[in-house]
Amino acid sequence: MPLNTDKTPSVTGALNTRITVRDFLHKPVPDEILKRILTTALRSPSGGNLQPWKLHVMTGDTLAEFKKRATGRTRSGKVEAPTYPAYPSPLWEPQRSWRYKLGEDMYALLGIPRGNRMGRLTWLAQNSRFFGAPVGIIVTGDKRLNMPQYMDIGIMLQSLMLLAREQGLHTAPQGWWRNWTSVCHEMLNIPDGEEVLVGMSMGYGNPDSAVNNLYADRAALDEVAKFYD
Ligand SMILES: Cc1cc2nc3c(=O)[nH]c(=O)nc-3n(C[C@H](O)[C@H](O)[C@H](O)COP(=O)(O)O)c2cc1C
Repeated sequence: MPLNTDKTPSVTGALNTRITVRDFLHKPVPDEILKRILTTALRSPSGGNLQPWKLHVMTGDTLAEFKKRATGRTRSGKVEAPTYPAYPSPLWEPQRSWRYKLGEDMYALLGIPRGNRMGRLTWLAQNSRFFGAPVGIIVTGDKRLNMPQYMDIGIMLQSLMLLAREQGLHTAPQGWWRNWTSVCHEMLNIPDGEEVLVGMSMGYGNPDSAVNNLYADRAALDEVAKFYD
C-alpha cells in the first residue's frame, strides 16, 4: 500500500495512515511543529497523573553524533545487556506467527531472502540511524516504575504518533534502543535512577521507499474482542 503523506486532521485518518516508517526523507521538521506535537502529546492521560515519561529529543548535530556512535557500536559486533527483552520467550501462538509474518513481509519488500542472514542483520541496524529521520527521541523512565506506568508511556507514544500524522509526519517506535543503551547514557543526561524504555524516529516518510509500503496485518475484531450483550 503506498505511503500516505497527506496531513490527516481526523483521529480515524491518523490511525489508518500511521504505519511504522523505516525510511525518512532528509528534510528537517520545523522546530515549531515538533514542539507543538510534543506539547500536545503531554496531554496524554496517565494513572494518577504520574506522567512517568522523560523525553530526550535529538535533532541536528547531536542527533548526527548519536547516530554515528550508535551505528559504530552496532557494527562492532559487541552486544549490550538490554534493559528489557523485546518479547516473552518462547513466544506462543498466534503472536509467534504474527511476528514471523511481519518479518517475512518486510524482508520481501526489501528483497532480502531468509537465507541472507547478514543482509537482514544489516538492514536491522538501520534502527541505529533512526532510519534516517531528522528527529530521534529516547524515552527514559524511573527504574521504580511498574507495569501500569509502562502502559501510560505507551499511550503517550501513540499520542505522538497520531499528532505526527496530523502534521504530515511519520514515526517509527523503536524498542531497539533498549538494546543499545550505552550511547544513550553517554550523550543524554540520564540520571542513575532512570533507564531507557523505548525510542522513536520522527520525520517525513519517503514515499518512494519500498519498505514504507508495508501495511502490517491486523487480527480481525472477533479474534481479539469478545462481546457480552
Ligand atoms: C513499542 C514498540 C516498539 C517497536 N520497536 C521497533 C523497532 O525497534 N524496530 C522496528 O523496525 N519496528 C519497531 N516497532 C514497530 C512494529 O514492528 C510495528 O508497530 C508493528 O509491526 C505494526 O506495524 P505498523 O506500526 O506499521 O502498523 C515497534 C513498535 C512498538 C509499538
